[in-house]
Amino acid sequence: MREIKTCIFDMDGVICDTAKYHFYAWKKLGDRLGIVFTEQDNERLKGVSRMESLEILLSLSDRTYAEEEKLSFAEEKNKNYVDYISAMDKNEILPGVLEVLEYCRKEGIKTALGSVSKNAGIILDRLKLWPYFDAVIDGTKVVRAKPDPEVFLKGAGETGAEPSCCVVFEDAYTGIEAARAAGMLAVGIGSEQALPNADFVIRGFEEMSAEQLINRIRQF
Ligand code: BG6
Ligand code: MG
Repeated sequence: MREIKTCIFDMDGVICDTAKYHFYAWKKLGDRLGIVFTEQDNERLKGVSRMESLEILLSLSDRTYAEEEKLSFAEEKNKNYVDYISAMDKNEILPGVLEVLEYCRKEGIKTALGSVSKNAGIILDRLKLWPYFDAVIDGTKVVRAKPDPEVFLKGAGETGAEPSCCVVFEDAYTGIEAARAAGMLAVGIGSEQALPNADFVIRGFEEMSAEQLINRIRQF
């Protein structure tokens, strides 16, 4: 049986559906710049850092932009994004998430947040989730975005677990790559089509009870 010492949760798209707020904020910037930006394009931004996301958006335009302009675009997008997330409340925690976090506590499994977002603190405040995590690793603590394993390795380190005893819950292809590069079991949240690199995929935490999920991982 697999020993689980730490469960590491990505935030955007796993704990809450903030991917839609990222999309609205990028789209607003895109509209202003005359760049057509679709939900399909937005898929490529999942798990990617703010500046890398901006580069992807700007690659859809034929214009080139100076570094200074890019920095101000990123700031503009983030301001819009922060407006959206500042209005969130705990009703936006995705179904089944609290049950899994509580079950981990009960089983003596540590919990860590592993997100490259620099806004994780605001979201944890709004959703009142701080007490549920033994460690919070976010974009203010890492220098390399996913697929680099840094964020997850730090989560393992701060909770005193070897990577082989950690499980990652992720909704992004790059995030699954990061978990695998860290030597951790990677559970995809979403569709098998979007996450063919995951060890296994569930549609969401509501798909089964927390006990069933943890048992499935232990037996994997
Ligand atoms: C990730 C999101 O969690 O955080 C990405 O999946 C986002 O879409 C990245 O670009 C950085 O977020 P932020 O909040 O620091 O701009
Ligand atoms: Mg995500």
